[in-house]
Amino acid sequence: MQKYFHIVTYGCQMNVHESEKIAGMLSELGYKNCNEMTEADIVVFNTCCIRENAENHAFGNIGMLKKLKSQRRDLIIAVGGCLPQQIGKAGDLHEKFPYVDIIFGTHNLHKLKEYVQLKEKQKKSVISIEEDSGFICEDEKPLRTSYPNAWVNITYGCNNFCSYCIVPYVRGRERSRKSENIIAEAEELVAKGYKEITLLGQNVNSYGNGTDDLSFPRLLERIAKIEGKFRLRFMTSHPKDFSEELAKVISENPKICRCVHLPVQSGSDVVLKAMNRKYTAQDYKNKIAVLRKYVPDCALTTDLIVGFPGETDEDFEKTLELVRSINYSSAFTFVYSKRNGTVAAGMPEQIPEEISKTRIMKLVELVNSLTREQSLKYVGKTVEILCEGYDEKKDMYLGRDEFGRMGYFKSDKDAIGDFVNIKILKANGVSLVGERV
Ligand code: SAH
Ligand code: SF4
Ligand code: F3S
Repeated sequence: MQKYFHIVTYGCQMNVHESEKIAGMLSELGYKNCNEMTEADIVVFNTCCIRENAENHAFGNIGMLKKLKSQRRDLIIAVGGCLPQQIGKAGDLHEKFPYVDIIFGTHNLHKLKEYVQLKEKQKKSVISIEEDSGFICEDEKPLRTSYPNAWVNITYGCNNFCSYCIVPYVRGRERSRKSENIIAEAEELVAKGYKEITLLGQNVNSYGNGTDDLSFPRLLERIAKIEGKFRLRFMTSHPKDFSEELAKVISENPKICRCVHLPVQSGSDVVLKAMNRKYTAQDYKNKIAVLRKYVPDCALTTDLIVGFPGETDEDFEKTLELVRSINYSSAFTFVYSKRNGTVAAGMPEQIPEEISKTRIMKLVELVNSLTREQSLKYVGKTVEILCEGYDEKKDMYLGRDEFGRMGYFKSDKDAIGDFVNIKILKANGVSLVGERV
């Protein structure tokens, strides 16, 4: 009888791609994807713990499966990823949800297939969290679900220890895949017809870290030279490692999208220092100036945190100032969330929630106004969209231009995977509406 899996993913793009790897392992065991949790034989929660609400969200959803499990004893429930990788959290999960069959972390994700087999054949539950051993699994066969886009890991882990961030604790030390394996994977994806490749790492700029033959700009350039029409993106860049060489490579290779995500976090030097970001607001502006010298039309996006311990009104004003001066095309904005075990969690001046709320509202308003302003400039222009989906509600196809802007358009025939020229008729905040030309 056909068996089905259902995967629930939380968190970053890295996790989305890791869910594709989980799907790959489950299909090797004979499972097929299904959209409804109630129809699944195995449900996997691939979790995130970057902020408290991501964690609460996962806890809530796992809790809701208790009833389903009591009706269907043979349902296998697995919880993995960053949340259980935190010290003590696997035990907490097991205690709170004794009906969960498999608990695994980030360092043994590639063993999930083995754990599921143990559960299927020997009815054994598995709770296994491994330490970071520096291991890189190179024989993964992800079941890709985002055609025409494909994600490719280039580094794992992080060495930066930004004082607010849990990632270095749950993802281990930074390690780079071999350039030859990355290039081979990219070549295979282009040959299979994928139209956009996004290179993934917590800090792609430090790729190689002295251990590989190629630096990040050289790797990027090498992939951009692969024959065929496709786009190349990368995320995330850490400003401290963003180099002139990289700006130059972007300018010389039209396949690399003119869109860089460069998280700044704050515009205040005092806060940046306390965050352990290793750059000042001026350093950041200088890097942007270099990037814009080489790639004048480059769109910029960023991540921002408000309410970091000790952040004063003046510090926050500096963030607003910086956001205005850079003129981002969009930004992810977050309220600081205390993560146990990080340096910032021990800082005395935690900011009251009401203050953070007021600040985030102001910041979101500013970011939205910049986004709207830039969107309006698109009206009347023709842009090339890589069509990546169909929105049933709107009865329109959608995709992004090379600057990362989302555009909607009508089409009589299936356009997914096509590069389509559309003339923009209307701008709605972040997204654009146009017609095929
Ligand atoms: N490696 C990437 C992304 C890390 S997580 C980078 O360095 O940019 C994505 C974003 O989540 C971060 O850029 C930061 O803005 C935010 N973030 C991380 N930890 C957080 C915390 N404790 N509270 C609020 N936001 C946080
Ligand atoms: Fe977290 Fe900083 Fe590493 Fe990004 S660079 S994952 S914010 S520690
Ligand atoms: Fe990503 Fe969340 Fe882990 S942002 S690295 S899934 S903590």
